[in-house]
Amino acid sequence: MTVRFLKLLVLPPRGAMLATAAIAGCAGSQSALDPAGIQSDRISEVWWLYLWVTVAVYLAVIVVTFVALVCGLRRSTPSGLSNIPITPDQERVRGRIVTGLVVATAIVLFVLMVQDFRSGRAIASLDGETEPIRKIRVTGHQWWWEIEYVEALPHLAVTTANEIHLPVGVPVELELLSTDVIHSFWVPNLHGKRDLIPGQTTSLRLRADREGTYFGQCAEFCGMQHANMRLVVNVESPKNFDDWLNHQRATASDSLSDSERRGRDVFMTTTCVMCHAINGTDARGLVGPNLTHIASRPFLGAGMLPNSRGHLAGWIADPQSIKPGIRMPANPLPPADLQSLLDYLQTLR
Ligand code: CUA
Repeated sequence: MTVRFLKLLVLPPRGAMLATAAIAGCAGSQSALDPAGIQSDRISEVWWLYLWVTVAVYLAVIVVTFVALVCGLRRSTPSGLSNIPITPDQERVRGRIVTGLVVATAIVLFVLMVQDFRSGRAIASLDGETEPIRKIRVTGHQWWWEIEYVEALPHLAVTTANEIHLPVGVPVELELLSTDVIHSFWVPNLHGKRDLIPGQTTSLRLRADREGTYFGQCAEFCGMQHANMRLVVNVESPKNFDDWLNHQRATASDSLSDSERRGRDVFMTTTCVMCHAINGTDARGLVGPNLTHIASRPFLGAGMLPNSRGHLAGWIADPQSIKPGIRMPANPLPPADLQSLLDYLQTLR
């Protein structure tokens, strides 16, 4: 029995091995351990401090337990553990050891708490460092993200869905809202989580310092498709960002082929138009994502599918089989209409 227990202690526990493997796989485009911004950098420092301190405490406990078991085995007799009485001196030493360890535990917890406060203050102080030059309004819906680039002149504002573009090295302020239930905005490479609360605006300031594509995820259970409420963040050079933003301001083109024009008619005369907006047309629905530039987005359905013609066709025909519970109904269009509709949607770049 004791030998089995010792083996358990010496061999790396399965949980620890899994944790090591998980940490090794934690670098990447959706990881708090691969910071790409100054806020997430501070957060990852705390994470690593907690990890190493708790690993050290764990190892110390294992070593002491091991020593205690070995000493106990040495003192045991064939009939069982010895019961040699403890002298008052030994009793005093043991009392001091226990007191010392209680004090050490308190010190370790205190150091971790202080570091936690310091990191929180460091992140908060960044908020006042430079005034964000850009405000982005992020609205949570069941189960997608509406993204609006707020401008003083309303005609310059840009509305998109499930994708955020950020200029590298520039602080931005996210204004977070929800239209239905509580969601939580979390792009681990850039910052911690922040709730989106119905009827109350919250905000998050962040600065992305490394170009790249990062993924975010709703981090608060918000219903059936909570796990499928993803967003993609593209951090790019200020020039590329400005080009993207200017391109997003363009409205839908009128120079269309016959099939594309027929597709536009299909859009405007079926249920599509009741929920979606396409700038530059009569479609002004606000229930679903703005589709003015849908063809330029990387994913459909808030990260459900890559944005290809085939996936888009499947999504339009029967979104409930892909993402059950969403508000978009099935659209059993005649095949020719569906093909024309796809032709039209693909012009919306
Ligand atoms: Cu939105 Cu979970």
